[in-house]
Amino acid sequence: MKDVTAIVLAAGMGTRMKSATPKVLHRIAGRPLIEFPVRAALELGVACVVVVTSGNPDIDASLKAAFGDQVTTAVQDPPRGTGDAARVGLAQVKTDRVLVFCGDTPLVTVQDLETLVAASREADLAMLSAEPSDPTGYGRVLRAPDGRVLEIREHKDLRTDAERATREVNAGLYAGKTRELVAAVAELQPMNAQGELYLTDVVASVAARGRVVALTGSPDTLVGVNDRAQLREAEELLYERIRVRLGRQGVLVRGDARIDDTVTVAPGAEIEAGVRLRGATSVGADCRIDVGSVLTDVTLGAGVNVKPYSVMAQSRVGDRAEIGPFSHLRPESEIEAEAHLGNFVETKKTRMRRGAKANHLAYLGDADIGERANVGAGTIVCNYDGFQKHRTVVGAEAFIGSDSQLVAPVTVGKGAFVASGTTVTEDVPDDALAIARVRQENKAGKAALLRTRLAEAARQAKAKKG
Ligand code: UD1
Ligand code: CA
Repeated sequence: MKDVTAIVLAAGMGTRMKSATPKVLHRIAGRPLIEFPVRAALELGVACVVVVTSGNPDIDASLKAAFGDQVTTAVQDPPRGTGDAARVGLAQVKTDRVLVFCGDTPLVTVQDLETLVAASREADLAMLSAEPSDPTGYGRVLRAPDGRVLEIREHKDLRTDAERATREVNAGLYAGKTRELVAAVAELQPMNAQGELYLTDVVASVAARGRVVALTGSPDTLVGVNDRAQLREAEELLYERIRVRLGRQGVLVRGDARIDDTVTVAPGAEIEAGVRLRGATSVGADCRIDVGSVLTDVTLGAGVNVKPYSVMAQSRVGDRAEIGPFSHLRPESEIEAEAHLGNFVETKKTRMRRGAKANHLAYLGDADIGERANVGAGTIVCNYDGFQKHRTVVGAEAFIGSDSQLVAPVTVGKGAFVASGTTVTEDVPDDALAIARVRQENKAGKAALLRTRLAEAARQAKAKKG
């Protein structure tokens, strides 16, 4: 493939997206659209990848961030059609052969590109076609009675019902000799419904003097993203492809779980329906992520058990930890091995050291909870005074009784015991018992008296109303 340059066309306006964001930067399965075709070209091992863009600095920045120097860009401004875009790209090509395709077809596979380039070595031009159930909107491949490819005619330029009935459509991928394409592109005229230079017209001009082959690619390769309905369709196909790929790698993905292309999952993991794994998430071996959990940029060690409906972002969880159901890990939570977070526990910038537990109803923000410490139900770390955030430190094996508040900044020492219902405002030394609540009084027989008084008050209120 070292004699081939890939040109990816991505300078179109993308008006059908109805968005201020350039079409090729719309995200699909966790990556900007443009990354999929570029990745396929790089995986193919071509000498060089040239992306034709509108010069939008966001596109350049996105490509730089993802691919560094592996990709160069060429600017087409204004966008005068796919043929003009190809001309701009071709001006940068130094290899004998080129592969030209659209930046809005994210399902293109390396196999398709490989087949196309191989076929182009036996012909003057090779292109991919497909037969979708509904050809509306695509350019049609028109052939002579003997099957030779004659031309591609765009949907808007079809003239007869017979042409419109043609099922074979242009997938938008072409490969051939650089010299041949440069010559064909130079001849293009904007004589069509859109007044643009159509790259598709090179097919007729090469066919007039040589041989064009149209190969049938996999049907998905065709799926182009022009509007958001097609984006959704392409994304669903990508998610299914990812589920199948993970299945082959030893990961069980059930139902409609959606795992972004950016996520890594180790073998042995089980992911239930309704789960979303996003961004730079990585899941260790033998983890189980139950129904409805949403993880964004989270690293899970091995054997982590995430129970249903847990939401986590920008956090790390150690081996064999247990999270959920209904836990909320906000950014910079560090849950170490074998720690437990139960239902309705929220953490933020908090480290739960090895084996620490907070099993029910708690808020732990800006805290460091020691090894094997136990945080009781209803515990709240009061980390914010309305102006600043303050830290709370709980020592190893400390016990925080239920319904306590830890008013930060505060430290509870190792092995200390905080009695339930205590508001901790001062540091608790190691091994001390802290208790701060009003002493209980029991008044004998007063319950009945209180009830009589309350019933009488209710009777009087009712009489007044009526
Ligand atoms: C194009 C093909 C059509 C094919 C379909 C497959 C043409 C004229 N038509 O139609 O035969 O069935 O793809 O998906 O080629 N672009 C530029 N500069 C421009 C215009 C477009 O770089 O001036 C880029 C776009 O960013 C896009 C790609 O070229 O990535 C295709 O353009 P688009 O307008 O989407 O073409 P289609 O109407 O889909
Ligand atoms: Ca398109």
